[in-house]
Amino acid sequence: MGIDTATPTFSWQSDSKTMNWQQSGYQVLVATDEKLLRPGYTDAWDSGRVASGESLQIRYAGKPLRSRERYVWAVRVWDDKGQPSPWVKSWFEMGLLFASDWKARWIVRKDPASDLEIASVRWIWLHGVDTQHVPPGTPAHFLYRLHLDDKPQAASLHMLATGQVIARVNGQVTGRHENWGAFDQEEIADLLHAGDNEIELDCVSRKGQPAATTSYAAIAASIHVTDANGRERRIVSDGTWLARSTDEDTWTSAQIVGPMSSKYSTAVDGQPAPGPDRVATEASLFRKEFTLTSTVVSARLSITALGAYVAYVNGHPVAPNTLLAPGWTDFRKRVEFQTYDVTTLLSNGPNTFAAMLGAGWYSSPMTWAGIRATPGPNLILAQLDLTLSDGTHRSIVTDDSWLTAPAPITFSEIYGGESFDARLEQKGWTKVGFTATEWTHAVAASPPNPDIALTAQPDLPISNALVLKPVSIDRATATHPAVFDMGQNMVGNIRLHVHGARGTLIKMRFAERLNPDGSIYTENLRNADATDIYTLSGEGDETYSPAFTFHGFRYVELSGISAPTLETIEGLVFNSLPQRPSVRLSSSSPLLNKMNELGAWGQRGNFVSIPTDCPQRDERLGWMGDAGVFWRTGTFNFDIDAFSHKFMIDVEDAQAPAGEFTDVSPNILDASTGAPGWGDAGIFIPYATWLQYGDTSIVEQAWPAMERWMANILMHNPNYLRRQHLGNNYADWLAPDPNTPKDLIATAYWALVAKEMAEMAKAIHRSDDVQKYQDLYEHIAVAYRMAYIQDDGTVSGSTQTAYLATLFTGIAPENTRTVMVRRIVSDIAAHGNHLTTGFLGTPFLLPVLDQFNRSDVAFRLLLSDTYPSWGYMVKKGATTWWERWNGDTGDPSMNSYNHYAFGSVMAWVYRRAAGIDTDGSGPGYRHLIIEPHVDPALPQLHVEYDSAYGTVISDWRQQNRTFTITIPANTTASVSLPDGRSFEVGSGTHRYRLN
Ligand code: BGC
Repeated sequence: MGIDTATPTFSWQSDSKTMNWQQSGYQVLVATDEKLLRPGYTDAWDSGRVASGESLQIRYAGKPLRSRERYVWAVRVWDDKGQPSPWVKSWFEMGLLFASDWKARWIVRKDPASDLEIASVRWIWLHGVDTQHVPPGTPAHFLYRLHLDDKPQAASLHMLATGQVIARVNGQVTGRHENWGAFDQEEIADLLHAGDNEIELDCVSRKGQPAATTSYAAIAASIHVTDANGRERRIVSDGTWLARSTDEDTWTSAQIVGPMSSKYSTAVDGQPAPGPDRVATEASLFRKEFTLTSTVVSARLSITALGAYVAYVNGHPVAPNTLLAPGWTDFRKRVEFQTYDVTTLLSNGPNTFAAMLGAGWYSSPMTWAGIRATPGPNLILAQLDLTLSDGTHRSIVTDDSWLTAPAPITFSEIYGGESFDARLEQKGWTKVGFTATEWTHAVAASPPNPDIALTAQPDLPISNALVLKPVSIDRATATHPAVFDMGQNMVGNIRLHVHGARGTLIKMRFAERLNPDGSIYTENLRNADATDIYTLSGEGDETYSPAFTFHGFRYVELSGISAPTLETIEGLVFNSLPQRPSVRLSSSSPLLNKMNELGAWGQRGNFVSIPTDCPQRDERLGWMGDAGVFWRTGTFNFDIDAFSHKFMIDVEDAQAPAGEFTDVSPNILDASTGAPGWGDAGIFIPYATWLQYGDTSIVEQAWPAMERWMANILMHNPNYLRRQHLGNNYADWLAPDPNTPKDLIATAYWALVAKEMAEMAKAIHRSDDVQKYQDLYEHIAVAYRMAYIQDDGTVSGSTQTAYLATLFTGIAPENTRTVMVRRIVSDIAAHGNHLTTGFLGTPFLLPVLDQFNRSDVAFRLLLSDTYPSWGYMVKKGATTWWERWNGDTGDPSMNSYNHYAFGSVMAWVYRRAAGIDTDGSGPGYRHLIIEPHVDPALPQLHVEYDSAYGTVISDWRQQNRTFTITIPANTTASVSLPDGRSFEVGSGTHRYRLN
């Protein structure tokens, strides 16, 4: 539903259990009415009988498909004896195809109090100091004495500083940030009392510059206080605040440095930038009542936001269990819309459409610098297209007749978390009959880019399918509040079940690990506050889960409830993946079984609208290097064909005009070129998607962009060694042995993408390009051999990665291969049977070892549990892959416990250990290469993989010397057994006893 591709493709699967079943032909019909779904009658498309075995990605070639039209389609196939199958029917529905189909206007909520606040708040600093030239590390303290007649019913502190800042309320630390470009928000009502209160900000000016240089420095703040009668005051930083440099100095009034528009913030490229254009990141409500005078035959809601939305029709959420729609794209260029069938939610008579609008990725401060790539208010766009039983059509669209009000969500950001004050909830606001007093009219407005592309979301929404119950609670002690263990490093939110006194503040903080005293360890989250706050309404049992944030965590710290139980919270796992993994593995090795689970959980945690590096700290960015090395594994774990298409849109939107792919997509970092291995993901992703799913459409779509990237590398490196224009050149990132020359691994990756381009060119029938990229590969290989390989087979750097890259790419001259393999094996032995590879070398490790007949070493590494190894992480209690091999001892400033990059190993387990593989001659497992590598270290292995043709099963049991495979209908396989025998087989189950 809501498709906006002019020529969609059709795929089907045969469930025939007949041995050697092959499709010999197919026919597809498409019509606007089921009655017309017969050969000779269709009003859209009749493919006729096509003599072909293809059953994937058959492209529509009929009459132009119309916006909003629902089509029915049917397919039948003929087997190899010419017998036709019955017709099988389905449907699809087009979305809004053209900009002119949108009658709705973007609308915003204007809030004069917030506008006034941001206009009044001032950057301030120490008196008598040149704020443009402050030595690094200068301390500065700021104080506001707040007198209150009564304890407030709500209060928040918003603060921002160039450099480091720690906020204290009456001596208690409430928040801290470093080099963060947005206002931090802390709920402080609990810490305030009637009488005098002290709000203090302790700052240290920007560090990290050479000692001799100076920097600009300033802070800004605002305090929101709501008294017992609901009256709100906002106190902004200005000359009434006090300042001093050290504790010995006396307080004097602060210097007013300038308005927020002056450049005391830091952009992501390190340059001075204006401060943010909002103090609070709160959410808004919108509603529209309308009356229908006849029954609804069909109702489609097309909706999106520059921000994130939750929509309701007559009180019912239109997309229950989803989060952060419309997802993340480069909002300077594109936003995706969703289409929902809301027919059954409407009725004859009065109806209400309502939506809540939060910041989402659009307005949340992102990256470690807390910047917003898209300033300005959040906007929403919605269009409800109705067909009524009297034959008329009507559209209810967002415009300035809609009413709007502040939401009970007073804060919500991707990294920061969410604050929900249930006392502010307006009962019944999503339903008919609500009296919207004190609501104001929404204002129609243009997005910052009025020509922003509005395209249909091609992949799955971010949904909750799994709910985890906590496995234990560590009750509050003198050193920490209650801490729940979810038993699994997970990504999503908590659903809280509570009751208690009105105004009670419940605080939830999230972490992946614990400190030795049992408190949560949050140092590795850096600037991500990851805190949700729920203020009770006091009206019976209350349930809450955040609408506009998510966290990566295993542990939840809960304060504000005296005796929480295991029933107090549930863990809602959110991601953009199908619910069921497409690979299942069981083996005689509990370690390997666990590794397979870690891989699925790592992907669940990081495939959230985009593939992220990690889900917890102040990054969660579409880091391309991580994605590129992982994609082949990721395409096994879950069906990510559509997700790959979505991400390639982000990758192409991020591409620079000169052709550079970037380090992250959507690209909210600076504009430099993607590093080798990182930018190259723009090739790896279409390649893996094509091979795994037989989907050439992603290759066709990305082809021009991929060509521009390849041309850009060559333009900067005309001598075929990749030494120029390398961006941040992360090389073999996080390798225990860092001695692989950076230009060597860069050039090897160039050779690899050239090879993949040649293969993909063949797949999309571009014969000139096949030659072009084969030639490119040859040139690179020659230059590489000259530059890095000595006659005796020594490769520059002599690291495992250097040899692996040389062999994996096929660059190693024939007569040096044995030597190189021996070097790798002896280096592994010299490291006590350990790998020393980083992000870029690791995917080559086991494939090279087995390719050169050392699968014994590959299995030893795979099943090792001493540092550095995958098993080491498992042994240390990991439930998702770590960022670093030494995650247990690594630097907290870069130490995530949910980073999938090293999980790239699992593709080898499926492809080579289980032997379930495909190649360019029959991609998508149309033709399988079944070549299991058995080893005494793993006596038994069973893998099932749901390919696009159906489930492939590989099962070996060394004790019985049996090997059994099942391959789906309409596929064939070349089987090579470990005993040297080989067979060509068709579909069905095949049992072998090994000699
Ligand atoms: C990310 C990585 C990423 C890297 C670039 C890190 O901060 O978490 O996984 O690829 O930056 O080196």
